Amino acid sequence: MNRKHHWDQVYASKEPDRLGWYKPRLQTSISWISELNLDADAAIMDVGGGTSTLVDDLLDAGCRSITVLDLSENALTLTRERLGANAASVRWLPGDVTAVELPDHAYELWHDRAVYHFLTTSEQQQMYRDKLLRALKPDGHLIIACFAPEAPPKCSGLPVQRYSREDMEESLGAEFELERHHKEMHITPAGVEQMYLYCQFRKTTSTVC
Ligand SMILES: C[S@@+](CC[C@H](N)C(=O)[O-])C[C@H]1O[C@@H](n2cnc3c(N)ncnc32)[C@H](O)[C@@H]1O
Repeated sequence: MNRKHHWDQVYASKEPDRLGWYKPRLQTSISWISELNLDADAAIMDVGGGTSTLVDDLLDAGCRSITVLDLSENALTLTRERLGANAASVRWLPGDVTAVELPDHAYELWHDRAVYHFLTTSEQQQMYRDKLLRALKPDGHLIIACFAPEAPPKCSGLPVQRYSREDMEESLGAEFELERHHKEMHITPAGVEQMYLYCQFRKTTSTVC
């Protein structure tokens, strides 16, 4: 199945506020990011940012080095259009996170809400982790939200890998130290309950790559 085609179709067929993962504001992400007290110039990567409003809130907070990566060019176009002139202050990167070329040790923060859980084979997960490990600065931060074990087995019609805290720690490996986590119930616009696991990790300094 062509994943890019799937996601482009999703964004072509529904308004952003009708999509299952839609939230008007990513409150947990915003508050955890603000507590990191990053410099305005700190490089932030929002992986699979889609049409989420996180980028709007980061710009409002004064962040000046934001990259939004997404497999779907439709999603990036919609978000760029929503931002209008402010879109010029953001780097827009169409591509697959498991394959895209990213600069080494570039990002202070890597944010992922509801992307990693679509990688259901150990090979895909390893490719993601390789990108993440290389692209994140030493001591860099990772905020990642995936479906928890009690969430439905599919998201956007695709099978997902669901994670407990222990599963997530094991999946990311010893290079990432868990700093906090919580579970968060998301209700889709259609009224379906989806439990998310939100985690914040720090890349450990001992990591070589
Ligand atoms: C469930 S949506 C979440 C969007 C956004 N993070 C949010 O919380 O509103 C998943 C997003 O990840 C993108 N995506 C899925 N697989 C991807 C991949 N391998 N590489 C990059 N983006 C991907 C999709 O196009 C979609 O925009």
